[in-house]
Amino acid sequence: DFIHRFIPSKTGRNDTTLVLLHGTGGNEEDLLPLGQFLAPEAALLGVRGKVLEGGMPRFFRRLAEGVFDEADLIFRTHELARFIDEAASTYELNRARLTAVGYSNGANIAASILLLEPEVFSSAVLLRAMVPLEPEEYPNLQGKKVLMQCGRQDPIIAPENSERLAALLKMSGADVTVHFSNSGHGLTNPELAQAQAWVGKVV
Ligand code: MLT
Repeated sequence: DFIHRFIPSKTGRNDTTLVLLHGTGGNEEDLLPLGQFLAPEAALLGVRGKVLEGGMPRFFRRLAEGVFDEADLIFRTHELARFIDEAASTYELNRARLTAVGYSNGANIAASILLLEPEVFSSAVLLRAMVPLEPEEYPNLQGKKVLMQCGRQDPIIAPENSERLAALLKMSGADVTVHFSNSGHGLTNPELAQAQAWVGKVV
């Protein structure tokens, strides 16, 4: 089980749910305000990563910044996917409308779920994501919508890496929107406003 925080939708119908996945050192509460900003009507499920790096929660192990422990990543990807399935039953969520919202390490595991467990999310907002792994075969992401917000000056993620992820998702059939801004690894307000507009239209 994962430490998590669930906030039902205001209508109580939980028709759309944002699954909030934090960056390194974050927790299940971190992205709740962002979720409220992106989709005020949605139910919110904030999840805490189980791996600790110097006391900081993450969703999978890494060997160095941007260098992932692939075996752990694969294991954690399936583990998190099963938890989301269970949470969908427990909280009676509409499985056809589960949107991942991930930042940094959380965006990377969300991308990994898209590639290895394509049934889980109907859409995803990937904030500062990179290629988590190269899948052995393309998943079927037909009908899935993905927004990627990337920073051209991001010191952790080269633009080509985010572009490679976008290409992988597109080749798998996803409808991908990629925005690059003049920013670093941290998010800026205009990007979040863009994400809000995208979520309002698409999710
Ligand atoms: C990762 O480990 O997922 C990336 O290096 C991003 C981060 O969490 O800093």
